[in-house]
Amino acid sequence: MTLLFVNARQVVTCAGPARARRGREMADAGVLTDAAVLVEGERIAAIGDARALAKVHPRATEIDCSGCVLTPGLVDSHTHAVFGRPRYDEHELRAAGLSYMEIARRGGGIHASVRDLRARAEAELYDLSATRVRRLAAFGTTTVEIKSGYGLSSDDELKSLRVIGRLAADLPLRVVPTWLGAHEIPLDYRERDAGRAEYVELLKGEMLRKVTDSGLARFADIFCEPGVFTVAESRAVLGAAKSAGLGVKLHADELEYSGGAELAAELGAASADHLGAISGAGIAALAKSGTVATLLPGTMLFLGRSKQAPARALIDAGAAVALATDFNPGSSPTVNFPLVLTLGISLLRMSAAEVLIAATVNGAAAIGLAAETGQLAEGFAADLALFEGEDFRELPYWYGDRRCRGSWSRGETCHPYEPGLG
Ligand code: NIG
Ligand code: FE
Repeated sequence: MTLLFVNARQVVTCAGPARARRGREMADAGVLTDAAVLVEGERIAAIGDARALAKVHPRATEIDCSGCVLTPGLVDSHTHAVFGRPRYDEHELRAAGLSYMEIARRGGGIHASVRDLRARAEAELYDLSATRVRRLAAFGTTTVEIKSGYGLSSDDELKSLRVIGRLAADLPLRVVPTWLGAHEIPLDYRERDAGRAEYVELLKGEMLRKVTDSGLARFADIFCEPGVFTVAESRAVLGAAKSAGLGVKLHADELEYSGGAELAAELGAASADHLGAISGAGIAALAKSGTVATLLPGTMLFLGRSKQAPARALIDAGAAVALATDFNPGSSPTVNFPLVLTLGISLLRMSAAEVLIAATVNGAAAIGLAAETGQLAEGFAADLALFEGEDFRELPYWYGDRRCRGSWSRGETCHPYEPGLG
């Protein structure tokens, strides 16, 4: 199928090198006016003058962008989209003064989602997750990373990874699977003195082996945070995962300083995520490394915390910053990626170009796909999103609104075109 996207008010390409953009490189999103995009099969074949492209490809099916803005499909590089029950009860508890960690200590938080997921049939979990992932797509996301992490046993982690695998096979979005068996120490292990060490052994040994044998995960992740996994434990688990051929990522310095950012740089992690409490040394370490700093401002907002990750300091130091939703039932139940871009400008003090690069090219780099998606350029996957508005800065501006009028993943419809909106 050959498609020609015409009549876009702006084509925002984010085009450039096929790697994460760092520091000042993030300031240019590549805005074209009077440009058309030609798609042949799964790939972008050309970007240029509409009439010239139409002449060379007279049989291309035209997609009328009706004066909207065409961008790369958004790349949401951090979600926990496979879960059962929503945890709205904890939202109120936090407002009443209980902290995220205190709720976890009382057996709620991640533990509550673990109990719930273990009790559910795989088919039911699949149906719940598929509906939610389609909602992510309705906001312009065409690539999504999904973590396991509410199973915390070999069988239940594999159950989650199989659900993620089925989502990848059935849904039009591109799905990247991450094993997060190290999301928490299960309650029954926490109760025993030797339980912690036993769980770390299980992660590094049997569970990792079963995960790699299944071929169902591309990355391993860990919650490296005071009260959860230490830096030494994280180094051991991710070191083993790396030796077994998985890419590695970390939840690092989310609520309190852990040294996770420095560890991410040391391990050559694809990304260090959250970074609400990163140190100066952590910023310097990431700036010097190839690790993407993935910021999740929706999480801090939803948890009611006033402190946000130091995006400006990271970018100014020359780090590569990505943004993502962290979609999960506890700390960030949103499918609205453009709203996260709003927070990137309003709370993290990034520019509109920076938040778009963070949600496309740099999101792709955070999941090892910088040569595949995240930019509109010849040879890249035909992953596109169409947003209502005459300027791309309207996407973060109309905060909370759903401006996506259609999206395409590898040249196929991802979110159906909605010409009637607006
Ligand atoms: O990224 N911090 C760990 N994981 C998630 C929250 C998971 C949950 O509360 O269910 C996060 O914030
Ligand atoms: Fe997370």
